[in-house]
Amino acid sequence: MVPSTGSNKLKAAVFISGAGSNLKSLIKFSKNKKSPIFISLVITNNSKAKGLDFANIYKIKRKIFNFRDKKLAEKKILLELKKNKIRIVCLAGFMKILSKSFIKNFKGKIFNIHPSLLPKYKGLNTHQRALDDNEKYSGCTVHYVTSKLDSGKIILQKRVKINKKDTPETLAKKILKQEHKLYPKALLKVFSL
Ligand code: GRF
Repeated sequence: MVPSTGSNKLKAAVFISGAGSNLKSLIKFSKNKKSPIFISLVITNNSKAKGLDFANIYKIKRKIFNFRDKKLAEKKILLELKKNKIRIVCLAGFMKILSKSFIKNFKGKIFNIHPSLLPKYKGLNTHQRALDDNEKYSGCTVHYVTSKLDSGKIILQKRVKINKKDTPETLAKKILKQEHKLYPKALLKVFSL
């Protein structure tokens, strides 16, 4: 991988709420010469999000917003995104639902990763629900974000086989490993068209 300064890349912000393993994989990808994005901001609603450590390690600006007043939080985030000239928003384990009016600022430029083969299992507890339904496969999906939860146009999906012995935890782990490859691939697909 050839490191890049990012001067000709699209400035991106990644929104997280938890562990941030997808953030880490996106940061690594963004340093690749071929990456269309350059991550210059990490946004979270959770000051305790483990993923914030990656922003520190890679010296990326991080901002925490309290969502008790969602409208106000979104207003402040929007200002921060504009201030930093952010063109692309990648949601990666961000646990808040963004409003229609927020999303319209980034039409076609806001993406999400979800741990199921959408349109199946939107929302939470995806792995448990897939196991309860005796699915043979689950997987992950990268899609455009619209105001309807986990419903925007699908960009890429990766199927993962479910074994009889799988638990929600083992399945989550297997799928997460694929998520780390799928998100960069999806961004390449969108921006190399
Ligand atoms: C991932 O499974 C993602 O698909 C879902 O939340 C999880 C976040 O994991 N939306 P991480 O914080 O990126 O490790």
